[in-house]
Order: sequence, then structure tokens, then C-alpha cells
Amino acid sequence: MNRRLFLQAVGGAVTVASLPPVRGRVMAAEIPNLAVASGRPKLIPRFADGRDWFFQKRFGMFIHWGLYSILGWHEQHQWRARVPREEYVKLQQRWNPVKFNPDEWLDQMEKAGMKYVCLTTKHHDGFCLWDTKQTKYNTMNTPYSKDVLRMLSDACHRRGVPLCLYYSIVDWNQPNYPNQGRHHELQPQPGDQPDMGKYMEFLKEQVRELCTNYGEISGFWWDMNVDKETHLDRSINDMIRKLQPKAVINNRGFDEGDFGTPERDYENGGEDAMCFARLTEACQSVGTESWGYKSDEDYYTDRHLMRSIDKYLSRDANYLLNVGPTGEGVIPPVAVAILNRVGAWYNAVKESYENVVPATHLTDNRNIMITRRDNTMYVHLHRDPTSETVKLRPIDVAPRKATILNTGKPVEFAVTFAPTDHLDQKPFLRLRKLPVNEMANTVLIVKLEFDDLTAIENMHNKALDKDDIRKR
Ligand code: GLC
Repeated sequence: MNRRLFLQAVGGAVTVASLPPVRGRVMAAEIPNLAVASGRPKLIPRFADGRDWFFQKRFGMFIHWGLYSILGWHEQHQWRARVPREEYVKLQQRWNPVKFNPDEWLDQMEKAGMKYVCLTTKHHDGFCLWDTKQTKYNTMNTPYSKDVLRMLSDACHRRGVPLCLYYSIVDWNQPNYPNQGRHHELQPQPGDQPDMGKYMEFLKEQVRELCTNYGEISGFWWDMNVDKETHLDRSINDMIRKLQPKAVINNRGFDEGDFGTPERDYENGGEDAMCFARLTEACQSVGTESWGYKSDEDYYTDRHLMRSIDKYLSRDANYLLNVGPTGEGVIPPVAVAILNRVGAWYNAVKESYENVVPATHLTDNRNIMITRRDNTMYVHLHRDPTSETVKLRPIDVAPRKATILNTGKPVEFAVTFAPTDHLDQKPFLRLRKLPVNEMANTVLIVKLEFDDLTAIENMHNKALDKDDIRKR
């Protein structure tokens, strides 16, 4: 790719014409989010204001919790299983999560190495987890009658944990929301009074409550159904920014927001991209089927989750890993076990993501990712390794020290001529005898400490520049 195309791609001129059209919904990936497969990875510009916490705390916990959790239903069961509204709302009288203890959630989150939380204050079903004055469909009018968001926000503020709020624009309960049977919408229901104007007033008042009554809010996470062509409206995010200047806002609301939200590893062919064209926070659930607690959930493998986390964090992006607490308010044991295993891995390797820059361009080996801090380089084996060796062509300098971050054990390395490099007639650095079979269930990350990595980078950049000029 020449410099012009590279700049175009980084500037966001990537089209996603191949995406299936979804009526009434802007898919997250339609907002240009991809970056480049060659050239040089670019660091996402920082905001230089209070939102920059997002670059310090990059791994967070997503929590989907609501009435659906009581019966272990998918969070969209009401829509997916065509449950009539008058039946679904009866669950409100069963909401009594007596075991909910926000500190236990935060303990679990911190144990897994996560640094921030995002809670579904209102999912598509319209049930609100806070003491809202805009509808009676909320936690106060239940046997529990406590403000769940108050409890969680108090705990977050006490512990210094940034709290982000998920809010569904689609609403299957509020009578003014025009449910028209579009994507993620109910068919019209008895009692509906569709009126988007009135619904927007309702929504704005709810957002105002959320941004006024719960102390500092660090992020606002919109979900669904905004057709930005007809509903571009910056006033809503402007209000959030005024009330909560430290809040980062995602791209699923009424304008393009601060960051993109690729979901469940859906990247539209961006596998080889070395970085993202805009700030990105990927999200993924521990279960393959749903985001809320589902009694018969199918779960991802540990390696799939680690690989997914690594793929984003090593490219200057954030990652939200989701769990769905039960109707009683506890994170289910299977999810706890997954968080503990993935968290043990994360805690061992996290220095390879913290205060680093993406530097995959330093090698032509496209099976690995590289991050870098000063003279330290981290080699991420995020793809299934095909051999016990990793070649780092064109690097031809040996590090001072090489260690497997996962175990702390040393790695054998060599700068010797390999027969497959005969066209170059040069020795290159390779890492050898990696425990790829013994540790096939994880993502290995190797730490390489060089005397002068800057010199290697400069040499490489000169070569890239020459290549660019040659191709122009
Ligand atoms: C998907 C799901 C929705 C969930 C969201 C989280 O859009 O349909 O239920 O809340 O992902 O990103």
C-alpha cells in the first residue's frame, strides 16, 4: 500500500459496502474502524482532557443485568421469543436480587485485572436499574425496591473504579417508542402511542438523571437503533459532555461519538490490520449465545477469549469482557471460573499492553503482533503457532534477554542464517523452542529486552520510507 492509500485508510476512508444492510440500525462496524495491514501503525490521538482515563484503563467488565436474568433468558428473549409485553412485564414483580453485593462484583473484576465497569442501566426491554422518575418500570417498584445503580456507583466511587453506563435507545416498554417490528424491535403492542418526539423527551430526561444523580460517570454506552442519516443529533451527546466531561461516548448513539465498538470479534476482514483508524473498544461476552445470564449458556474457550483480548489490546484498543449476573445478583460460577482463568493469564502478561505502542510493522511476520515500550518489545502469538519457532525478520539484532511473560521462563534465541532466508542471504532473529504444545491453550507473549530498540526501529523506518517512495 502506498502512502496515499495508507493515509486514506488511517483517515477512515474505509468502506464496508459488503456488510448486509440492517434496516433501521447502524451496525457498529459501519463506522470506519478498520486500519491498515501494512505501513506503520498509528497511535490513536489522545483527547488531552479528562476522558484520557480510557487510555490508562484499557480492560473493563461489561455487565448485562435485567428482568431476563430472573428466568435465565437471553436478554432479548421478549423479542426473539415473541413474548407479549403484558406477559413479560410481570417479571418486574419477581425482581428481588437479594444476593447482589456490588463489592463482590468489583472484587471479581479486579481479580481478573479489569479496571472499569459498564452496566446496562436499561436494555431493550426498557426495565431501568435506577430510581428514574420517567417510568415506573424500574427497580424501585419491585420486591427489592432498591436503586441498583446507586449501590454500584457508590461502590465504584469509593474504590476509584470508572463507571460507564449502557443505555438502549430501543425500548420495548415505553409506549412512545415506535416499535415497528424493525431490527431489534417488537411488533406494535396494545397500548402503544408511537411518538418519537415524546420518546426523545423521555430519553433526554433519563440521560439527564443518569448524568446528574450518580456522581462521576466515566462513559456513556449507547445501543441501537439510530439511523444516523436521518437522526444525526449532536445535542444529546453535547448534554452528556457538559454534565460529565470525563465520559467517553460510543458510536451507537445519535452521532459518531468518541469510539467504535466492534462486537464479538466481528471486524469485517480487519484481522491483519496493525491498528485502528479511530479509538476502539471491542466487546465480547463469556457466553456464545447471550450477554445476560442464560441458564443453558454455551461458553467460549479460554484461548478464544485470550486471543480476542490480545488482538485488541496489542493494537492500542480497549476491551470489555461481559458477564451476566443471575436474577439473585451473583455472577454465575462458570463465568467466575472463566474470569479467573482468563484473568490469571491477563495478570501475567499485562505489562505487554500497558503504556506501550503498537509496533507490528517491525517484522514482516504476519502471524504475530508486536507492542513496544522504550527498549522492550513484546511478541504476541495471537494466532495458532504453526511451529515452535517465531521468526522476526528483518530484525537482525539479538536482545539482551528474552522471557516468556506467561511463565517468567527464559526463551532461547538466535541470530543465525536460516535456509528459508536464502534469498536475503542474511541472518535474522528467531525465538526458538517455545512451549507451543505444552501451552497450546493460551496466548504466549515473549518479552525481548534490547540494548537499543530505537536504532532498530529507525533502521526499519528508513527501509519502509524507501519502500513507500519506490511504490509511489
Ligand atoms: C448486541 C446484542 C445486545 C447487546 C449488545 C452488546 O448488540 O444484540 O443484546 O446488549 O450486543 O454490545
